[in-house]
Amino acid sequence: MRLSTLLPIALAAGPAVVSAAGNFGFALGVKNGDGTCKSQKDFEDDFDVLKAHTHTVRTYSASDCNNVEAIVPAARAKNFKVVLGIWPDVETSFKADTEALKKAVPGNEDVIAAITVGSETLYRGNFTGEELLGKINQVKNMFPKVKVGTADSWNKYDDGTADPLIVGGVDYFLVNAFAFWQGQEVNNASATLFDDMTRAMNHIQKIAGPRAKDIYIATGETGWPSDGGSNYGAAIAGTENAKTFHDKGVCAMLAWGVDVFFFEAFDEPWKPDSIGDNGESATEKHWGMYTVDRKPKYKVQC
Ligand SMILES: *[C@@H]1O[C@H](CO)[C@@H](O)[C@H](O)[C@H]1NC(C)=O
Ligand SMILES: *[C@@H]1O[C@H](CO)[C@@H](O)[C@H](O)[C@H]1NC(C)=O
Repeated sequence: MRLSTLLPIALAAGPAVVSAAGNFGFALGVKNGDGTCKSQKDFEDDFDVLKAHTHTVRTYSASDCNNVEAIVPAARAKNFKVVLGIWPDVETSFKADTEALKKAVPGNEDVIAAITVGSETLYRGNFTGEELLGKINQVKNMFPKVKVGTADSWNKYDDGTADPLIVGGVDYFLVNAFAFWQGQEVNNASATLFDDMTRAMNHIQKIAGPRAKDIYIATGETGWPSDGGSNYGAAIAGTENAKTFHDKGVCAMLAWGVDVFFFEAFDEPWKPDSIGDNGESATEKHWGMYTVDRKPKYKVQC
C-alpha cells in the first residue's frame, strides 16, 4: 500500500496523537568499533555528527561500559538529552545499573529525558507484566524526578501482555517496531510500521482510558540494515532500502506526530552475529545511519 493512501486511513481509524511533528532521536551504542568503551570525548564526537538530526539519544544498560559516567557530561557539554537504561532481567545487572544511575542522575535530571527499565523483556518472556511493573516502581522510587518507563516490542502492547503496566500507572512507553524482522519487503515496510504503531497505541490508549492523554508513547526502535546486513525473509538489507525506509516510513511517522528513535546511529562492527527467529545467523553490525567512523551512508530527506 502506498503511504499516501495509508496515511488518511491511519489517521481516521488510529489513535490520538498530538498534531505537531514528532521528534527524531537515535539509539546509540556505547562501544567503539573495536569493542572498547566510548569515552566522554567519543560521545561528544558522536553528538557533533548527530546534532544535524537531533539532540536526543537513548542507550540501554547504564553500567555497560559504565556509559552513564561518560555520556551524561558529554550530553551536558553538547546540549543533548539522553534516555538511560536499566537491564532488569537478572538481579546482578539490575543492581549494577541502578547503582550506576544513583551516581549519575542526581543533579543531572535536566539532561536525562527518561529511564527505561528493560528492553523487550516481555517479548523475551523474561517477566510478566506484573513483574516488570514491580521493577519499574522500584526505579520510580529511586528517581522521583525522572520519567521512568520501558521499551518493548509492539506486539506485546497489542496483545495485552503490557496491560498491568498501563493499569499500574506507567506513563512512558517506547514501542519497538521492525518491519524488517517481520520479513516485509521494503515497499510494504512503511505500511507495516504504521500498522504496528497504530495497534500498540490504540491498545495502550484504550486500556488507559481518560489517563491516555498523560501517557507518552514513541517508536523506541525502528530501522533497516544497509549493505553487509543479513536479509530476513522478503526483507532485503541494502543501503538504498535503508534510505527508502527512513525517508518513507520514519519521516511519515514523524509527520504523524509520533517521536521516533532510529535504530541506530552508527554501525557496531564488534557485535556478534545472532540467530534469528528463522534459525538463521543474522548480523546486527550494519544498522547505522552512519558507518562506525561516522561517515553518512545515505542522505536522509524528510
Ligand atoms: C532473562 O534474560 C536474560 C538475558 O537478558 C537471560 O539470560 C535469562 O535466561 C532470562 N531469564 C528468564 C527466566 O527467562
Ligand atoms: C503489508 O503490510 C500490512 C501491514 O502490516 C500487512 O497486513 C500485509 O499483509 C502486508 N502485505 C504483504 C504482501 O506482506
